[in-house]
Amino acid sequence: MPQITTRYVCQSCGAFFRQWLGKCSTCEEWGSLQEENAPANFSKLKISRVPSDSKPVRVSEISMEEMARTSSGIQELDRVLGGGILPGSLVLVGGEPGIGKSTLLLQMAGSYSREKGKALYVSAEESLTQLKHRAQRVGIASENLFLLAQSDVSRVETFISELSPSLLVIDSIQMVFHPELESEPGSLIQVRGSAARFMEIAKKTSIPIFLVGHVTKDGTIAGPRILEHLVDTVLYFEGEKWMSYRVLRSVKNRFGTVDEVGIFKMEETGLEEVKHPSEIFLEEKRSGMSGSVIVSSLEGTRPLFLEIQALVSNTKQGFPVRRSSGIDLNRMGLLLAVLEKRAKIRLEGCDVFVNVAGGMKIVEPAADLGVAMAIVSATSNIPVHDKTVFVGEVGLGGEIRTTRGLSRRISEARNLGFQVCVIPETREKLDTHGIEILAVKTILDVVERFFKG
Ligand code: TYD
Ligand code: MG
Repeated sequence: MPQITTRYVCQSCGAFFRQWLGKCSTCEEWGSLQEENAPANFSKLKISRVPSDSKPVRVSEISMEEMARTSSGIQELDRVLGGGILPGSLVLVGGEPGIGKSTLLLQMAGSYSREKGKALYVSAEESLTQLKHRAQRVGIASENLFLLAQSDVSRVETFISELSPSLLVIDSIQMVFHPELESEPGSLIQVRGSAARFMEIAKKTSIPIFLVGHVTKDGTIAGPRILEHLVDTVLYFEGEKWMSYRVLRSVKNRFGTVDEVGIFKMEETGLEEVKHPSEIFLEEKRSGMSGSVIVSSLEGTRPLFLEIQALVSNTKQGFPVRRSSGIDLNRMGLLLAVLEKRAKIRLEGCDVFVNVAGGMKIVEPAADLGVAMAIVSATSNIPVHDKTVFVGEVGLGGEIRTTRGLSRRISEARNLGFQVCVIPETREKLDTHGIEILAVKTILDVVERFFKG
């Protein structure tokens, strides 16, 4: 009989304790600890990334092998990975159920296997017939793509040694289990233990491994969050299910930059890469409409041009309603307060709605100025010229603060046919690329220029 020890695992951050606590002392989440029975052999499955016999070496004596990246066959995915797939890397692809993780990874395995070698796609969630249906739907016909419906990690290991694939996908890490770990599939012990096993396999064999992980909106399911520190790269696949655009975002990358994004569109026949996103997002913008403003949002190294729409109406009864989609509601609240206080825009009796067109999401504060101007345009019913783009963070004092990548945003704005760029005052020497630059200091400045007289 294996010896069983009881411990309490935080469902939010994965830390564990010998006794139950009301609040996790690592992530400070209340009521997140759950009892788990860990077999005493659990520690055997914990792995280390470095050999146990390593010694100190002079930095000059370490030889650098250039790690060769291989293309996944999908350029948008390569970009997010930092230029392609690295041998022996463990990549976690998280996202809500139904967003398209299986589709993306099946397409990747398909296109990779057509040119680069055998790919093994292991599904612990779907039958071979279901997988075949999806493969047909997205048009995969590769003799080198192998599908396996299996949830037992030890059996998957056997097939890996028999087949020696050069790429492995595990769909999903919550549904696989390792028989040596005496815990339910999907439990923290299983999720972490199985992932650790795949990490060991990746490092030993140099096979790149992609793990699918489901997350719900509130991130409650045991899984991806606790694996983030273990894996090399964490990608999140996001989007609104009822919209067709999907954004693949890198949130951790041991071998590349984070915050690069890849943009896809979910079609009837699988995911399609969107190479020129701004053109598509701006396609439906109606000209001469008040409350609509274009902002430049820098995602990694690529500026995206998105339309912010605002609607302001008189509150009929009770408290004013404030809703946002695609931007943070707290950020919007802050901008409303700054507009009232620093630009004398009266909004107290108004309902305010802000939306980023196309179901996209902006996290950068550089969109502040554009959001604020969309609200002012909606309030005053004065449209902003279509060929104008706004960039800048708004401070509490109403000052427009500078942001990174101004030059890149300006040059891309010119490429897309914009005529005016409203930007923060900066000491940076900017190449204007033949576009009119309007450097502004305060939000009042901008309001006066665009909406007064
Ligand atoms: P799926 O990849 O199964 O999502 P996940 O693995 O993240 O749970 O795809 C989910 C949705 O995508 C499903 O509702 C159907 C839709 N879909 C398409 O619209 N076109 C397609 O070609 C495919 C394969 C799926
Ligand atoms: Mg799936």
